[in-house]
Order: sequence, then structure tokens, then C-alpha cells
Amino acid sequence: MESLRRFSFVSFIALLAYFAFLASAEHHVQQFVIQPRPVKRLCRTHQSITVNGQFPGPTLIVRNGDSLAITVINRARYNISIHWHGIRQLRNPWADGPEYITQCPIRPGQSYTYRFKIEDQEGTLWWHAHSRWLRATVYGALIIYPRLGSPYPFSMPKRDIPILLGEWWDRNPMDVLRQAQFTGAAPNVSDAYTINGQPGDLYRCSRAGTIRFPIFPGETVQLRVINAAMNQELFFSVANHQFTVVETDSAYTKPFTTSVIMIGPGQTTNVLLTANQRPGRYYMAARAYNSANAPFDNTTTTAILQYVNAPTRRGRGRGQIAPVFPVLPGFNDTATATAFTNRLRYWKRAQVPQQVDENLFFTVGLGLINCSNPNSPRCQGPNGTRFAASMNNMSFVLPRSNSVMQAYYQGTPGIFTTDFPPVPPVQFDYTGNVSRGLWQPIKGTKAYKLKYKANVQIVLQDTSIVTPENHPMHLHGYQFYVIGSGFGNFNPRTDPARFNLFDPPERNTIGTPPGGWVAIRFVADNPGAWFMHCHIDSHLGWGLAMVFLVENGRGRLQSVQAPPLDLPRC
Ligand code: C2O
Repeated sequence: MESLRRFSFVSFIALLAYFAFLASAEHHVQQFVIQPRPVKRLCRTHQSITVNGQFPGPTLIVRNGDSLAITVINRARYNISIHWHGIRQLRNPWADGPEYITQCPIRPGQSYTYRFKIEDQEGTLWWHAHSRWLRATVYGALIIYPRLGSPYPFSMPKRDIPILLGEWWDRNPMDVLRQAQFTGAAPNVSDAYTINGQPGDLYRCSRAGTIRFPIFPGETVQLRVINAAMNQELFFSVANHQFTVVETDSAYTKPFTTSVIMIGPGQTTNVLLTANQRPGRYYMAARAYNSANAPFDNTTTTAILQYVNAPTRRGRGRGQIAPVFPVLPGFNDTATATAFTNRLRYWKRAQVPQQVDENLFFTVGLGLINCSNPNSPRCQGPNGTRFAASMNNMSFVLPRSNSVMQAYYQGTPGIFTTDFPPVPPVQFDYTGNVSRGLWQPIKGTKAYKLKYKANVQIVLQDTSIVTPENHPMHLHGYQFYVIGSGFGNFNPRTDPARFNLFDPPERNTIGTPPGGWVAIRFVADNPGAWFMHCHIDSHLGWGLAMVFLVENGRGRLQSVQAPPLDLPRC
């Protein structure tokens, strides 16, 4: 009797805990209305495409375990789709978002509800349009707190500041893209970088809008830095202050201090900052890390970190004192960029696959398409060519009449093929002086099939075709471990000996060192069609992409879910 009573008391408590757990997972319902809105920057007003009239778009704040239902209503004149960058979307590619890969775009006047769950993820991610160049203005932060009561591996400051680094054109970005697609030349570089949508003091007509962050002396804050720029890796620092890096791409790191970070498009980096300097005003600033031999936007965006007790000037010229400016690395300072990236370590022992089932080697880089009439207005690239880019010499072309995932699911032929090559079709000195005969890639829509739960290793090898460059490579549907990197050509005999299989950083986007390689590993445990591409949008448009088709497993919860009924039709 006594034991029975004790048992029912224990099970009652367990039941209570279970309900508390269920109740703690929230369901977030939200509308994203895609609409043009006048946005004034650099002295001029543009009808920018926005979400709910906001630029940058709304910040989503959720917890691990929560579910979301975001209804995207398209009131703009462009097709659009939204990608939840870094969300794993387990067995649910339908909510991933890249147009013509996992869905057809949402047409003007139509809507689509993205339904997904946060499963074992916490940290800083973001969302953005995945439709031509609309992400220039359609993006926002997606912040995932741990489950209620689950701790951080470091002491978490009370205050959290999202820092969205963006890129602004004093034109309609869609027209910039259209022009480049017509001429075959590189798209115009941007006119400004932005911090939370504002260029800052160093640009014309921008001073009044400069973002200011008040801070209390002695206070520690967390900056969630997101590189939402279209085409540029950035250096970021705050005058006189050190950062402690604690997270990249929603994975915790072993903390380390640095005065500057390098962040590629698509990446996120959380840093702690303590207001331990003299009461004053300090610029935070971002400008290009330009690894390529190509034109780039060399301007600097700033915001102001402002101590609440900062002294003011007295008498004549009264007002706030001028902020201190940080020291930023030179534009081509690959040594600083590499030193930063090489310090990243997973916060604890990582579950890295120790054996490899799929050993892939992908070249990534630019190319040029020869024209029969080099004087044509459509061949304004170098020496009368059109720019291209490729992986293993395949320049990816988006399908037009269906998405890869829908075609795969329904068994519709003719949309893509599954013969993406596991190694380059020709071996050559990738980072040397490449003969002109190897500069022209082949266009196609090719995927690579992976068996469910295969252990995959990919060496991403930059080429020096046109120019060596840091390519921030992003894989949808997965987080991967970055187990090694180096300059020059990857050497399969000697380089694997130096792989870090113990605590390599976990990411969803990693840059190839310019004229070098980077190796990643992951377990193919998420069935579906998953895009892998360079997160520099000009390169993506030129074809620097491929698709992984991860097959279903045999067991329960190992197959792609049925598509939602409102999935847009092509
Ligand atoms: Cu953040 Cu396919 O992109």
C-alpha cells in the first residue's frame, strides 16, 4: 500500500514535469507580408521590398523545441521565397525555402505558410529571401534561446544585441542583377554597408540615422553578429574593446578573445563585449575583407557604442564628443582572416564521424563562358566573355518548371540529373597558373545522391581560375564540422593527418581560404534535396552551386514528410 502510494506520487510528479515540458515548447504564428516600402538611405528614397514594412525585417525570438508557422503573403511584384538559414528542417525540406530547389516561388498575390520546428538547435541564425537578389533588403535575425532551464556553457549577459551587417545599393538591387545578367559582366558593387540597416556617419546624408547602442560602464553584452551582406566578407571590430567569441553559426565555441572578427556572408558570430574602457563613445565598424582580385565596395559602415556616462563637450561646440575609431585590418589581410578562423574550436568534444563513406572532392571557383560574338552587348565580361562559376566544372542552372525536391518526390523526369561528379572531371594544378582551356565550365542541373546516414567528407578546393577567392560555402539542412584547411592544393596523402577530429568548429557556412582548401564532415541523416552553394550572391547566380539528394532511411522518422497542401505550384 505504502509503496503503491509512493509510486503514484512519483508518477504524478513525473507527469507534472512532462506537462511543464510540453507547455514550455511554444508555437509561434506570424505573418510576413512582403511589400514595397519607401526607404531613404544615402540621400535617396527607394521603394524597397520589405517584410511588414520593416527594414531590416522582424527579429524572430524562439526557444529550442518551439515550432513556427510563418505565413508569407506576397504583395510585391516579384516572385519570392524565404529561407531559414541554418535551421535543419529535419525531414521537412518543404519549409527550407530556396526557390526551384525545395519549392516553387510564391507568386505576387499568393501566400505560403512555412511550418517547422526547432530541433536541438540554439543560438544565432537568420532568415532571408532566397529568390534572386531580394535578400538585399529582405532579411532578419532568428534567435533561438535554449530550452527553459537549460544552461549556457558560458555566463550569459543579460543584454543581447543583434548586429545585422548588410549591403545597400543606391538602386533597385533587382535592376543591378538584371543588368549583370544581361551583360554577362560582374554586377555593380554596392554603395554602402549597413549595421542594422543604417550606413552610419561616414556616408552622405546618414549621420542622423547612425545606430547608437547605449551601454552601462562595467556591463557585459552579447553581440550577435550576422553577415547578411550580399557579396562581401567583412572585418568587424569595436574601438578599444576586445571580443570574446562564444558561438558561430548556432554552435558554441571554446571562448577566446580577439579585437577583430572576419565574417563571411551567411555566417553568424556571437561575441561578448565588456564596457571596461574610459566612459566615452566608440565606433563599431565593418568593412570589406576582399580576397579576390576584383572590384569591391571599399567603404566602412559604423554604429556607436555609447557609455551612458560619456562626458559631453562644454561651452562652445557643446554636445557629444567624437567617437574613437577602431583599427581595422587591411582589405586584403588574409593572414588576419585566416588566423581568426583557425582559432575556432567546438566548445566540447564533437561527434565527428571518424570513418568516411563518401569521400568527395569539389573544386569551387569562377569561370568564363566564351561568346561566338565577343563584341556582343551580352558579352561584357573579361575579353568579350560572360562570367560563370562552378563546382567540379558544373555551373548550376536553376530549373524553371519545377523544384528539384518536388520533381524528386513525385518522380518527375527531366528536371535534374543525379550525375554530379564526386571529383573534378580533369585533375590539374587547381591553385597554379590554370590553362585557358580549363576556364569554361559546363551548365547543368545536377545533384549528388547520398545514402541515408552516410558519413560524408567534402574537400572544397578553391581554384585560381579568374581569381583565387574566399568562397563562403553554405550547406542547407545540415551543420557540418570543419576538420581542416590549408593553402594551395589539398594533398590527400599528407593533409588528413592534420585533421581535427576532436573539437573542430561546427558551422553551416565556411569560407575556402583564397587559393586553398577546406575539409568538412557530416552525417547525411536528413533526407531531402539540400542546396550547397557559395553565399556570395553574384557567384550563386553564376552557378556556384549543387544539390545533395539524401535518400530516405528504412526506419520510422527516416523519410521526408508529405508536402504541405499549400506548397506553391510552378
Ligand atoms: Cu543563406 Cu541558400 O542560403
